[in-house]
Amino acid sequence: MDLNIPREILLLVGDNAQGKTTLLEAIYFLSSLTSFHASSDRQLINYSVPENSIGVGRIIGEFQRKDGNHRIEARLIREPNGGNGGSRFRKEVLLDGVKRKISDVVGWFNAVIFMPQMARIIEEGPAERRRYLDMLISQVSPLYSQHLSDYGQTLSQRNALLKQLGERGGDHGQLAVWDGMLARHGAFIMHERIRALREVEETAKRIHYDLTHGEEVLRLDYQPAYDPMSLPEGQLPLAVTALADRSGFSREEIEAGMLEKLQKLQREEITRGVTTIGPHRDEMRFLGNQVDLGEFGSRGQGRTALLAMKLAEVSWLKQRTSDWPVLLFDETMSELDIQRRLDLLSGISECDQAILTSTDLSMFDGAFVNAHTVWHVAGGMVSAQ
Ligand SMILES: Nc1ncnc2c1ncn2[C@@H]1O[C@H](COP(=O)(O)OP(=O)(O)O)[C@@H](O)[C@H]1O
Ligand SMILES: [Mg+2]
Repeated sequence: MDLNIPREILLLVGDNAQGKTTLLEAIYFLSSLTSFHASSDRQLINYSVPENSIGVGRIIGEFQRKDGNHRIEARLIREPNGGNGGSRFRKEVLLDGVKRKISDVVGWFNAVIFMPQMARIIEEGPAERRRYLDMLISQVSPLYSQHLSDYGQTLSQRNALLKQLGERGGDHGQLAVWDGMLARHGAFIMHERIRALREVEETAKRIHYDLTHGEEVLRLDYQPAYDPMSLPEGQLPLAVTALADRSGFSREEIEAGMLEKLQKLQREEITRGVTTIGPHRDEMRFLGNQVDLGEFGSRGQGRTALLAMKLAEVSWLKQRTSDWPVLLFDETMSELDIQRRLDLLSGISECDQAILTSTDLSMFDGAFVNAHTVWHVAGGMVSAQ
C-alpha cells in the first residue's frame, strides 16, 4: 500500500480491527526501528504466512527534514532454518538506499506515538521505563545508542568474569578493564538520562497541570542504581519530599564515582556473580502530587500523565533536533473529557504533521474536523473522505 500522507493534521476514522493502529505502528517503526509492543519484531510479519516458507515485511518511508529529503527502508525477513522446522529472523535497514546499522538510523525520522495501553509504562516494572527512556533519548542522540549498546556488551562480559572469579577464583585485577569501560559508558548514559528527564519534566509538568485543571503536579523521579548523590555513610538522606537535583554532576564526576563504587563492591559482586549498580538497574517513577502513580494512581491518572509526557516529548524533540516529530495519537480522544480534548487539539495544532485515529468522528470538535483532512480505514485500506 502506498500512501501520500499530507503535511498537516490527519484524522483516521474506522471501525475496530480495520488497520488504524497498524498504520500508526508502521510509521512509528521507521522512527524506533524496533517494535515497542509486539514482544518481538517477528510478530510484525503477516501471521498467515506459514513458518516453513519465507515471510517478509517491508516498510519504506520518504520524509522531509530541515536538511533535505530522506528515505528509510526497513526489511523484516523470516526464513526457514534448515529442515528442523524452526526459522531465522533478520532485520535490514537502509538509509537513503545504503544498508546501515540500526543504531545509525535511529534518530533520522522522529515520531511520538501515544496509545492508551501505554500507561503500562507507568504501571509495570522498571525495565519498561528504562526502555521508554532509552528510545526517547536515542532519537536525539546517536551517541547515546552507541554507549547503550557498548554498555550492554561490557556488562555481559563483566558479569561472565565475576561469575568465573566467584566459581573458580583467579586474579581480581582482571576486572579493572571492565570496571573502567562500564563506568565510562554508564556515566554517559546516566548523564544523558538526568538531562533528558529534567528537560522533559519541565514541559510535561506544565502540560499535565493544564490537563488536570491544576489539580495534580507531575514529577519525574529518577532513581539511579548508582547514585552520584549518594552521601557518605552515616549521613542522613534528603527529606523524602524533595526530589534530588543531579543536574550539577559532570559526566567525569559520575564516572569517577561509579568506578570507585564498583571497586568497593568488588568482593560482594564476585560472590553474587552479577553487576549490582549501573544504568541497567536504574528506576524512574512518575509522581502525581508526590504520590507514586505506578503504585497508587488510577488508570486514568496514569494515562493523563503519559499523555502529558508524550506532548512534552514533542516539544523536546523539536528543541533538540529543530524538526517537529510526527505525532501519532491512537484513540486518544475517547480518553478525555470535552475540555481536555480541546486542550489536546490546540496543543497539537502547532505541529507540522499529526495523525489521530478514532472509531468515532464525533469525538472531535466539529470545527476541528472541518479544518482538517479525514481518511477512512476499512479492511486494511485507506480512502479519502
Ligand atoms: N502479524 C499480523 N498478520 C496479519 N494480520 C495481523 C497481524 N497483526 C494484526 N493483524 C490484524 O490486523 C487487523 C487490524 O488491526 P488494528 O490495526 O489493530 O485495527 P484498528 O486499530 O483499526 O482497530 C486486525 O484484524 C488484526 O487481527
Ligand atoms: Mg486500534
